[in-house]
Amino acid sequence: MATECLDKKQTIDLRKKFIGPSCKVFFSHDPLKIVRARGQYMYDENGQQYLDCINNVAHVGHSHPTVVRAGTQQMELLNTNSRFLHDNLVLYAERLQATLPDPLSVCYFVNSGSEANDLALRLAWQYTGHRDVITLNNAYHGHVSSLIDISPYKFHQLSDDEHKQSVHVAPSPDVYRGKFRADHPDPALAYSDEVRDIITRAHKRGGKIAAFIAESLQSCGGQVVPPAGYFQKVAAHVRAAGGVVIADEVQVGFGRVGSHFWGFQLQGEDFVPDIVTMGKPIGNGHPMSCVVTTREVAQAFMAAGMEYFNTFGGNPVSCAIGLAVLDVIQNEDLQGNALRVGAHLSRLLGGLKETHPLVGDVRGPGLFVGVELVRDRVKLTPATAEAQEVIYKLKEQHILLSADGPHRNVLKIKPPMCFSREDAERVVEKIHLVLSEIETALNMSMPSPVHLENGKNKSKLPEENGVQGKESHIKDIRT
Ligand SMILES: Cc1ncc(COP(=O)(O)O)c(C=O)c1O
Repeated sequence: MATECLDKKQTIDLRKKFIGPSCKVFFSHDPLKIVRARGQYMYDENGQQYLDCINNVAHVGHSHPTVVRAGTQQMELLNTNSRFLHDNLVLYAERLQATLPDPLSVCYFVNSGSEANDLALRLAWQYTGHRDVITLNNAYHGHVSSLIDISPYKFHQLSDDEHKQSVHVAPSPDVYRGKFRADHPDPALAYSDEVRDIITRAHKRGGKIAAFIAESLQSCGGQVVPPAGYFQKVAAHVRAAGGVVIADEVQVGFGRVGSHFWGFQLQGEDFVPDIVTMGKPIGNGHPMSCVVTTREVAQAFMAAGMEYFNTFGGNPVSCAIGLAVLDVIQNEDLQGNALRVGAHLSRLLGGLKETHPLVGDVRGPGLFVGVELVRDRVKLTPATAEAQEVIYKLKEQHILLSADGPHRNVLKIKPPMCFSREDAERVVEKIHLVLSEIETALNMSMPSPVHLENGKNKSKLPEENGVQGKESHIKDIRT
């Protein structure tokens, strides 16, 4: 099959002419035209290979032959909606359920992470009879209207009038930059108390809590790893108020965290959400997603009397692909690979923190790793421009990385799960070289031991850690 029929300039021109201008490209100054991909590598129109460190959708590797074959074979046979009986639907639901704790036993198949989260809200509203939703600061849960309302990552761009009164924003449980940090005696308790207080305030205003929704580890929000025990405590408050807990696993599920199949399991076996939403990696690039919940929640949704129909959700092709993805994760031990390679990667990145003043924090389990860049380790001044510089310089070295978080200063590494030790070594070596260049240009050196880091000497922390301090000469380059 032809991989390219237009030259790059024509593609750019047609895109400008026909595609909505708010649909952004990576590296807007010099966008990439990718024509094929395999495993953890992508190739541009000239055959140049790029190491993909960000594509958590191509979970088991780009164009994995097992997944492609499963989809093709099923497409040759039949594709239709789920109103006909089909084995793929039930076999896939059974396989998926086997990865989850028992109470999470009823599946609804949909087509995108946004659809999954929107349906999760409907389930919560119907089951509880309540309306208010608690979300985390900097969260992103999808692009449809109901989710922009609960996505501070996006809605901070709206005016105050546009904020829904029924949406409450709890602090992100970020122990590096957040309200309660690593030096706090019990950050899990402190952050969950914030949720308790939100519930109390909502009740005073006559609100009733339907749901608390959070990613098991915040991704767009800055690769935040909540302190252990946080979700259990939050769940206790939310359930006491008659609400349910929704775990958004759209980015972090399917073995990425290495030690467990689901991100929420990092919190311990005593935490089971009421609703789990899945997307991105579930179909390795094929558009599909799923909501799994308890039988009680599903019964309440049924009791509303409205049929749930979704034209494409759970079709035989999607389910064949979903099954193949689970097979590959298992047969190629990709969860184990995420654990081993992720540990190696984190170790190497941790080494950078010892020698590079810009590296403030390295965090995240398995192949879900964040490197937060700061200009000052005490003030935590975000090194936003420097992060963008790293990304552009790495692209020149044919490595694809991105930066996110509220200050866009967190390098995020969440590659296809076939990422190897050698890939990890290559990317860390290149980050090291680029950081050295930037630090030399900025005349930065390692802080003296007296200037202890955030979390180790709280008395040195200023009230305000916004973007301030010495301006870099490096332009703020946005992807
Ligand atoms: C955590 C999270 N939830 C939901 C979504 C929405 O998924 P989709 O883009 O497939 O609608 C995203 C997308 O980036 C996401 O990161």
